[in-house]
Amino acid sequence: MWVFLNGNILREEEAKISPLDRGFTFADGVYEVIPSYDNKRFLFNEHLARLKNSLRQLFIPIPDVLDEMDSILNKLHKKNKYKNQSFYIQITRGIQNTRSHDSEKDLVPTVFIASQKLESNPFKNSPERKGLTIRLEEDIRWGRCDIKTTGLTGNILYAHDPSKEFTDEIIFHKEGIINEGSKSNIFIVLEKKILTPPLDQNILPGVTRNFILDKLQGTDLEVRQEAITLDMLHRSEEIWLTSSTKELQPVYFIGDLELPKKNTQDYIWPKVLNYFNN
Ligand code: PDD
Repeated sequence: MWVFLNGNILREEEAKISPLDRGFTFADGVYEVIPSYDNKRFLFNEHLARLKNSLRQLFIPIPDVLDEMDSILNKLHKKNKYKNQSFYIQITRGIQNTRSHDSEKDLVPTVFIASQKLESNPFKNSPERKGLTIRLEEDIRWGRCDIKTTGLTGNILYAHDPSKEFTDEIIFHKEGIINEGSKSNIFIVLEKKILTPPLDQNILPGVTRNFILDKLQGTDLEVRQEAITLDMLHRSEEIWLTSSTKELQPVYFIGDLELPKKNTQDYIWPKVLNYFNN
């Protein structure tokens, strides 16, 4: 695999980062995931804007190389050859020789980009296949999940607990209110309305979530950004998960509980999935 590190495109084995990088010592960095179909970036400007905002929120200077991002991703896409790829852009505050919570003034951010094969959404070609299974967990993450930081302990911890059963996604809730998935945003359909948690719950402002909200505006479907309780989730007619790598995928099971079955043509989610014509 070919990667980008601090100005150079090189083989993954040749890419080396100092152990004194604050990304390693403090998880002091941000990241962004950009899907690329046939070497065309999907919602590129939106992802770049969120990346810059994440950097600003962490007071990390915006590296000049971000101005050339599309051309770098273009080169990587060609070198890594897969038809569809997801790019992971990781930026840390940089290397600091003396360990300290405070950072020295002139640190140079580390910029690393890798790509991997992006699997196509299996629900696109076979909408009748079995939907995903989710598990509910208390949201133990920090209060600024709106920033896409590399500090993802709270997101990944439950996935490693050997006493828990594997599910396709874990949905976080706090004080009875649903926030988001460990790696996705959530929508539900309840009493003919489409609901998704509002951004003031400090969830990630998902680029895919926003794309769907935009597309649904002006249709005859009623859409609201509104708090979803655990009880509402359990009464949902449909549950959708959205992310840059998964697009939109339906959930059919909350643990052992199966959502009410519908005929394929009666589901709303396949119509929304049609907006993704990559
Ligand atoms: N995850 N919420 C969380 C916690 C996420 O990690 C993600 C994305 C989303 C969806 O955001 P978007 O639509 O902008 O991809 C919501 C990515 C795919 C990841 O970390 O790999």
